[in-house]
Amino acid sequence: MTARKIIIDTDPGQDDAVAILLALSADQLDVLGITTVAGNVPLRLTSKNARVVCELAGRPDVPVFAGCDGPMERKLVTAEHVHGKTGLDGADLPDPKMPLQDQHGVDFIIQTLRDHPPGTVTLCPLGPLTNIATAMTRAPDIIPRIQEIVLMGGAYFEVGNYTPAAEFNIYVDPEAADIVFKSGIPLTAMPLDVTHKALTTPSRIKAFRDIGTPVGQTVAGWIDFFDRFDMEKYGSEGAPLHDPCVIAYLLQPDLFQGRHVNVQIETSSDLTLGMTVADWWRVTDCAPNAMFMGDVDADGFFDLLTRQIAKL
Ligand code: RIB
Ligand code: CA
Repeated sequence: MTARKIIIDTDPGQDDAVAILLALSADQLDVLGITTVAGNVPLRLTSKNARVVCELAGRPDVPVFAGCDGPMERKLVTAEHVHGKTGLDGADLPDPKMPLQDQHGVDFIIQTLRDHPPGTVTLCPLGPLTNIATAMTRAPDIIPRIQEIVLMGGAYFEVGNYTPAAEFNIYVDPEAADIVFKSGIPLTAMPLDVTHKALTTPSRIKAFRDIGTPVGQTVAGWIDFFDRFDMEKYGSEGAPLHDPCVIAYLLQPDLFQGRHVNVQIETSSDLTLGMTVADWWRVTDCAPNAMFMGDVDADGFFDLLTRQIAKL
């Protein structure tokens, strides 16, 4: 079976880091490269953290490219209050030895899509959509060449986690999200509606720790750190593990359920900026443009994650 070719676009962030580990653990996926974007923490740190994670996975061969250092039109908003000042608080890992690639992340995305046959490369954005939208704007010819976009972002029934209306990734760069959701590319979204059902309960964290490897310990440490903020905020028995849902979907899509609906992005109202307005009940005649996930087999998700992390 030919491995599915993907580019991971990311703002690590502990949950991004677990998603990257999951992708690198899976023979079914061929990670052509990792592009970093400013989001959870500034670009310099997301670009460092992505390499830290590749080296933790024993994969210093995976090229990492720094992308955009801020949104297309707005001032950058970051989330150190959630992820810590390094973006990977919760584990003490050495600085990376592997180099950052010279090519800009946006140019890597454009070049890769032009170099591969149409419909053979999937984009997996795990942070603000700045790099993806910038690539589409700079090189519209790549749009029909993209096989699928599977992203973490948005919220509808679960409402916002950064404002009452908006999820962080979309809120940081709503104009970029608007471009991506209007692109016509096959799009699968993992919004808070589904990620808030993938909670890192104590028994699930213990399962990572019980793997007994440096990677398992690190993942448990990251999640312990990540948990403290979200459990306080949501009062839930664990924190939502957002970004790995994207990679888990590629590996085991039947873990997830959703609906193909029209989703539009609010880009002007101060009150609801960055809201993903999902026409879940199809009350408009707007054409569906996204598979908007709403449910996950959480036990199956964590079984997959734990099994795969144990391989690293
Ligand atoms: O709202 C959750 C998203 O914002 C996740 O991707 C997390 O890493 C942060 O980027
Ligand atoms: Ca992220």
